Amino acid sequence: MDIPVEVPITRENHYKICFVCLGNICRSPTAEGIFQHLINERNLENHFEIDSAGTSAYHVGESANSKSQRTAQKHGITLHSKARQFESSDLDYYDLILAMDNENLQNVRQIAHDDHEDKLGLMRDFDPNPGDGEVPDPYYGGPEGFENVFQIVKRSCENLLDELETHVKK
Ligand code: 4NP
Repeated sequence: MDIPVEVPITRENHYKICFVCLGNICRSPTAEGIFQHLINERNLENHFEIDSAGTSAYHVGESANSKSQRTAQKHGITLHSKARQFESSDLDYYDLILAMDNENLQNVRQIAHDDHEDKLGLMRDFDPNPGDGEVPDPYYGGPEGFENVFQIVKRSCENLLDELETHVKK
């Protein structure tokens, strides 16, 4: 997808991103944590607002999955999210809404209007090595699946922020 940026990203006009998966306990909290970490490293805390949500309500109120937390922590990143369900008001509020897989993108599209379409995409649209285009669901698998998710999401977030940073006016 083409990144939707209409005006320079400033403190006054900060850029808002919501990462979306199914449960909001594994993939999208990992994306939120990694992207926030990169923003902090680049001193861009005031230029971005990051959140995550799930298309289901299965885990609302829960902290990130313990395997996701452990994997992120191994790489020096703490996940702070509390699971919430994606809602229609998010479609107006966020500038960019990135789903982890096609099913979740379809679920978001079901409640979206035509004028939201330009802000909807997949996380792996920004992966330099996009594979099948989806961040695989690690929930029922072993720890290697969580590490795989971490690496995919890290690459994608770094590339996404590199592109967005060209629109930042400090
Ligand atoms: P996530 O992973 O969508 O990356 O948070 C999952 C979490 C929970 C379930 C499936 C996937 N579940 O079926 O409960």
